[in-house]
Order: sequence, then structure tokens, then C-alpha cells
Amino acid sequence: MHTMNTLPRFVEVVEVGPRDGLQNEAQPVPLDVKVELVNRLSAAGFANIEAAAFVSPKWVPQMADSAQVMARIHRRADAVYSALVPNMHGMEAALAAGVGEVVVFSAASEAFAQKNINCSITESIDRFAPVAQAAKAAGVKLRGSISVALGCPYQGAVPPSAVAGVVQRMADLGCDSIDIADTIGVGTPGAVQAVFAACGAVFPMDRLAGHFHDTYGQALANLFAALQLGVASFHSSVAGLGGCPYARGATGNVATEDVLYLLHGLGIETGVNLRAVVEAGDFITRAIQRPNNSRAGKALLAKWAAAQGEPACAA
Ligand code: HMG
Ligand code: MG
Repeated sequence: MHTMNTLPRFVEVVEVGPRDGLQNEAQPVPLDVKVELVNRLSAAGFANIEAAAFVSPKWVPQMADSAQVMARIHRRADAVYSALVPNMHGMEAALAAGVGEVVVFSAASEAFAQKNINCSITESIDRFAPVAQAAKAAGVKLRGSISVALGCPYQGAVPPSAVAGVVQRMADLGCDSIDIADTIGVGTPGAVQAVFAACGAVFPMDRLAGHFHDTYGQALANLFAALQLGVASFHSSVAGLGGCPYARGATGNVATEDVLYLLHGLGIETGVNLRAVVEAGDFITRAIQRPNNSRAGKALLAKWAAAQGEPACAA
């Protein structure tokens, strides 16, 4: 296929399971379990793991122990441990915890910004300005994240120009990279390419990332569509865990195991060991008693069990 020639040789997979995957769990996830999850993901080889969120514990109780998670994990020297930071309050906590990359997050619709961070898009950018300055002063990487870029649960359709407008404002803040997020998983490949084309006109395509939730089963197709435009960084969640507390009905991110299976099948390097991720997915789904939402993960677990003489389930 002609377009194959243009695919990147290496793709960065950012593992967001410890943050996006767990933030919505109603039952507290024990600190030990969070720490073991991050440690297993570190050992699997990810260069960037979103491990924490320094947000209001009243808004997202599950992330309240973020400082303890950061203190207890075993850090690989060549990996970045990233965390969400909505304001200076969160930034101070993130710096004290030794976060390597802070993520400021806003939205492409006013309605979603109000629900998620309790302010307008413009107010959010104003709040991020001192965060960005502090990040630069501390030598910490700065990433921006834009929710509802492919559709909003409150507003409905979101024009690509609105997403590109927020990309421009985050670029002006000095963001090193910017995430385009399909929070509610409604995008389809043509819409994804339209949004990335608009954003790539105002910010380097190779510093944009795709953050696709899989609510409508489109995430892998959307990832491939963005890959064809030269996007080379994607977010995923081990075992497909997750959902957004401010987007009811939204399911988890695309499963990391499925993303790795796709990329490795295309001959694209990721630096990540698929087997170790499948085992981490098995660990966390058992620990929090959640179904494993990775198709590749379940298939490989069944195959390995069969190879050991255990009956494979009827998958
Ligand atoms: P607010 O209530 O407007 O904040 O919340 P405030 O500044 O008025 O402060 C109210 C209280 O919160 C004060 O405490 C502050 O100290 C405290 P009080 O005096 O009442 O005791 N506070 C904080 N505490 C800890 N850490 C902080 C912090 N800031 C204030 N950082 C705020 C505004 C932004 C803080 C709140 O709305 C918030 O924390 N929102 C975060 C929501 C969130 O985490 N959502 C999920 C993550 S985003 C996501 O999942 C999308 C993504 O995956 C991409 C995608 O898929 O779309 C990234
Ligand atoms: Mg998300």
C-alpha cells in the first residue's frame, strides 16, 4: 500500500493507565496496587508513563494519593513520569513530587471546560501561564491536552478550527507537545484526519499526540488514520481501563496491548515489550476486579495458558 511508505519508523506510546485508567474507579485503589502497576509498566519499557494527577481531591478522589505514588515508584532513569496539573496549586505539588512532565489540560468546547476544570478556555490558559513559567524554570517538560477535540457530550460537534485555536494558545504558552483527545470516542478516521490537518498547520505534526478513547470502537482505526498523517505519539491505557469522570458513559482509552500489536505488526518500533504489558494488564484487572478490555491482551493470555496445557477459554 502506497501510504505505508510514509509511516513513522518509531512511535512513542504514552501509557496513561495509572492516571486515565484509574481516575474513574469508584472504589479506592490501594496505593500498593498503583505503585506495582507503574513499576510493571516501567519495566515494560515505556518512555513516558502518566502516573498521577495533582487535581482537587474533591473533584477526583481517586487521584488524592498522587504524591505518595510518585514517592514510592521505582523510577527508570530514562523514563519520564508525567502528571496532570490544572493550576499553580497542583504545580507546586507536582514539582515537590519530582514529576518529569506536567500536563496542562483544557478543552475545545466551553461547556466541557466548565464541567471539567470549572472555568472558561481563556481562564484556563491564563491559569496555565504561571504553570508554564514554573515548568521552564524547573526544567520540567510541558505538555498540553485538549479534550473533546472530536465531539463534546454537551455541545455536540466541534469544528477543527476550534481545536486548532486551542493548539495555538497552548503553543504560545510554550508547550513542548500537545495532545488531541477524543474524550468520548466519537471520532471516525476522516474526522480525525481533518482535526490533525488543522492542528498540524499551526504546530509541528510530530509534536502532536493522539489520545483516543474507544467508546465507539473507532480508536485503532483513528490511530492508524493519524499515523498516516505523520503523527508519531499516541496514548493508551493498559487493558483499556478507564473513563472520564466528567464525560458520563465515556469508556477507557484504546488498550495499550492492541496498539502495540498493531504498531509492531506494521514493523514500527515502540521500545515496549508487549508481553510485559499483557502481564501488567492481567495484574491490574485482577487486582481491581475489572474486565480486561484488550482484545490482543485476552487473546495472548489465552494462547499462553493453552501452551501451558491449561484449557483456553472459549474466546
Ligand atoms: P475549583 O473548585 O474551581 O478550584 O476547581 P478553586 O481554585 O476555587 O479551589 C477550591 C478548593 O480546591 C480549594 O480548597 C483549593 O485549595 C483546592 P478549599 O479552600 O476549598 O479547601 N484546590 C486544589 N487542591 C488540590 N490540588 C489542586 C487544587 N486546586 C484547587 N490542584 C480545579 C478547579 C481545576 C482545581 C478542579 O476543577 C479540578 O481539580 N479539576 C480536575 C478535573 C479532573 O481531574 N478531570 C479528569 C482529568 S482530565 C481528563 O481525564 C481528560 C484527558 O484524559 C483527555 C481526554 O480524554 O479528554 C486528559
Ligand atoms: Mg482521557
